[in-house]
Amino acid sequence: MLQQYVEAIESSNIVSRTDINGIITFVNDEFCKISGYSREELIGKNHNIVRHPDVSAETFRCLWETILAKKTYKATVKNRAKDGSTFYVNTTVIPILDERGEIEEFVAIRYDVTREMELRMELEKKERELEQLNRGLEERVREQTRQLQELNRNLEERVRREIAKNEEKQQMLLWQSRFASLGQMMANIAHQWRQPLTELNLSLYSLKEACRRNDVGEIESLYRQSRGIIRSMSETLESFMEFFKPNRSSITFPIDESLRDALALIRKALEKSAIEVRIEGEVELPVSGIPNELTQVFVNLFQNARDAFEKGPEGDRWLRIHVSRDEDNAVIVVEDSAGGIPEEALERIFEPYFTTKHSSHGTGLGLFMSRMIVEKSFHGSLEAVNSLKGALFILKIPLAETAGASTSSEKGAS
Ligand SMILES: Nc1ncnc2c1ncn2[C@@H]1O[C@H](COP(=O)(O)OP(=O)(O)OP(=O)(O)O)[C@@H](O)[C@H]1O
Ligand SMILES: [Mg+2]
Repeated sequence: MLQQYVEAIESSNIVSRTDINGIITFVNDEFCKISGYSREELIGKNHNIVRHPDVSAETFRCLWETILAKKTYKATVKNRAKDGSTFYVNTTVIPILDERGEIEEFVAIRYDVTREMELRMELEKKERELEQLNRGLEERVREQTRQLQELNRNLEERVRREIAKNEEKQQMLLWQSRFASLGQMMANIAHQWRQPLTELNLSLYSLKEACRRNDVGEIESLYRQSRGIIRSMSETLESFMEFFKPNRSSITFPIDESLRDALALIRKALEKSAIEVRIEGEVELPVSGIPNELTQVFVNLFQNARDAFEKGPEGDRWLRIHVSRDEDNAVIVVEDSAGGIPEEALERIFEPYFTTKHSSHGTGLGLFMSRMIVEKSFHGSLEAVNSLKGALFILKIPLAETAGASTSSEKGAS
């Protein structure tokens, strides 16, 4: 039975025996197979023939200490085969004692765990690589983030610079256009004063006549008439001055207010060109901004219409302003019957300095400025199309906060 046990162990394990000095006295076939040595090469040699140089002296000291103390030693040991290859064995070294209790020899039973160890080491290597990769990745992410942040900062800086440049440009344009419209306004004032000046002149002449006749009643009436003329001239002047006042602040006001001011400014010119003005719809709708700026938009639109009539087709001359409400917006349509905008110009009329007029008549800033005012000051939009009869401008302006308070539809004709 003992023999059978021995065979069972030997056939399934790597077995060797050494004397008390570590000299090999027995090896089984499995030992020869894994170590690559023949039995003859092993018997009589020190067991350290399969020692691997990687294994520290400390490990051996521990092994000898344990077995010389008559205890069993267990460990996974790295060994070297004859051909220099490495193998790992799970080792149990058992001291065999004689009847006096002295160590007679050592039996070592091992089994091959090379494959497991290799797999484990491979796994560990992979883990290390992964860890390294992770670190590399983190580093790369950090680097890229840093670059992105840098780029962002640069971009922000550039955007800031461009915005500043743009604002400067717009400011310049604003001033330029203010000067341009100042010229237009002067022409308007001159135009509006010509008539009353003639009247005043006539009045004075009549006054002189009345004085000569000593007609006190007539003198009184002519005096009052002259005063009236002068007052209206003064008002005209004032309304133009008001327009150019700086630092005007934003308020909520009905569209009607700007419409009326604009018409007052160029009514004479429109009348002279025999243009009938119709105002329709919800003119009381409130918007918020600077009333005079909206007035300027209307004046620009009305002036363009009047200019268009100068060379427009014969027939009905009308300018129609219609105000309605579309959700949260006031929609103001300004339409004329002056024949429309030339198809090839339609695309470009909002560009600065685009004009089809002689340089003494137009700077080409009117619509550009108007759109700028509508977009920047009123957060709205200004578009142009051709209708059946002429040009049609659509102004969309968000209603002021108090919207809804005034939805009354006020119809009026001018
Ligand atoms: N109601 C209109 N009917 C026909 N064409 C128009 C009308 N409004 C504008 N246009 C065209 O659009 C062009 C640009 O108009 P915009 O008001 O910007 O400049 P302008 O009137 O030529 O000069 P200004 O700077 O003195 O206003 C005009 O020259 C004209 O050709
Ligand atoms: Mg114009």
